[in-house]
Amino acid sequence: MGTSTGATWSIDDIPYGTLARESVRDDRRLFDIVASASFIEITSDLYTRNLVEFFRADREVADWLAEHWQREELQHGAALRKYVETAWPDFDWQAGYRLFLADYGPTCTVQRLAPSKALEMASRCVIETGTATFYRALSDLSPEPVLKRLAAEISAPWSAVPPTSRRRTPSMPTRRCSACATRRVSSGASTTTPTATA
Ligand SMILES: [Fe+2]
Repeated sequence: MGTSTGATWSIDDIPYGTLARESVRDDRRLFDIVASASFIEITSDLYTRNLVEFFRADREVADWLAEHWQREELQHGAALRKYVETAWPDFDWQAGYRLFLADYGPTCTVQRLAPSKALEMASRCVIETGTATFYRALSDLSPEPVLKRLAAEISAPWSAVPPTSRRRTPSMPTRRCSACATRRVSSGASTTTPTATA
């Protein structure tokens, strides 16, 4: 079933109420991974603005980025945030995100994109491939069924692609961003982090 985001699923489809907290509660590594991903995905509005400006001469791509890609990416972020807040309710997600954004925001600029549109599009596609692989692996390895389902939904092929060119612009900010998010989560942005042992 389609949604307003262009995705084939909605955050309402994810059964957060059945989340098996006992299987993830003390898993610090999993917490770092999912919280970092939520930070990155939910910042897609900033990233999309840059890409829209960069590709503004290509109306088809710019419109698709703004009308489809951004919505789907923001849904990824919202769904992951809800997972984090359900699985690890002691974590202050908003406080952690503020720190992340303070680090990442200044680096997420049009000037940091590739020197040509072709290179930027190629880099986005490479990163998108890596992102899909990341979520597929997360789904395969998740010890918790709700995360398994959510990661599988995020990794699924997009329904919304530019109609004529079949071009795609990938979903994940740069590895710089990933490293930034991991650093922020790991540095204890929360007032209370999970009682993890990993
Ligand atoms: Fe995404």
